[in-house]
Amino acid sequence: MMMEQLRETLPLWVQASRLHASEGQVASYIPELAKAPADALGVTIMGAGGETFSAGETDFPFTMQSISKVFTLLLALMDNGEDGVFAKVGMEPTGDDFNSMLKLELVEPGKPFNPLINAGAIAISSLIHGDTPAAKTERILSFFNEAAGGATLSVNEDVFRSESATAHRNRSLAYFLKDNEVLGEEIDVEDVLRVYFRHCSVEVSCNQLARMALLLAFDGFDPLVGRQLVPKRYVQIAKTFMIMCGMYNASGEFAIKVGIPAKSGVSGGILALVPGRYGIGVIGPALGAKGNSTAGVHLLETMSTALDWRIF
Ligand code: DON
Repeated sequence: MMMEQLRETLPLWVQASRLHASEGQVASYIPELAKAPADALGVTIMGAGGETFSAGETDFPFTMQSISKVFTLLLALMDNGEDGVFAKVGMEPTGDDFNSMLKLELVEPGKPFNPLINAGAIAISSLIHGDTPAAKTERILSFFNEAAGGATLSVNEDVFRSESATAHRNRSLAYFLKDNEVLGEEIDVEDVLRVYFRHCSVEVSCNQLARMALLLAFDGFDPLVGRQLVPKRYVQIAKTFMIMCGMYNASGEFAIKVGIPAKSGVSGGILALVPGRYGIGVIGPALGAKGNSTAGVHLLETMSTALDWRIF
């Protein structure tokens, strides 16, 4: 399909996929997220020259939630190297819900299966360098800003407070990690959780998400700035996790139907990429049973099929 055709067709695809929002529900376990518009759907596709193709509601900001875990993983890898990171988290998908406790106790006690489930991402938060939770958060934010091509992202304080006040499950996961010494003696559980909740609450637009995805599409090289921001090996690790568990326990289905690396968040955002070609940001707040945007996944499947994006 030629680019001009894509510009004409994208709004039609969004219109068709939007109907699938009714199959999902806006997340409410973080009360503040329930305020998002349930029927909204927006997409931005960004190419190597920064050219964008957008359709639908791309204007409203949303929090990154679990999408942020891809970028904290990259920062943790840069801070600690592969050995340091994989001492704390595994390399396997779980097949369980993103906030599940099940395998934490069953297999290697306390060691989360991968860095994209909540337990794994909390362990990753503890690895980010910085003397205080505020310093760690500052480093995370400035890395996110660089990844977004020089943005000035900020934390949505209402979402942060809302999550922090209701995160009984994440708190219990974190204390379980502490009990099993995945969070070491020197680490304060509440401090780690604060860093985790804050990076989940970083607010982005579709456009900024596509810009961040572009960096991954080019293996850590920012094609617009002309600089290698993240070592290729670390992006390779992140993309492998995205394929295996970026869409949680719907990752297998997504790999078969859509076939590109992606990461979803409970705000309804999805970051996806076409290697060497596009960074993609999608927002559709209504989620299916496994926590992924129903309309967003439908739209990505439509685009991937029509534009022959599948990597396999
Ligand atoms: O920890 C949580 O529950 C949220 N801050 C993030 C979870 C999330 O986005 C899972 N997504 N599908």
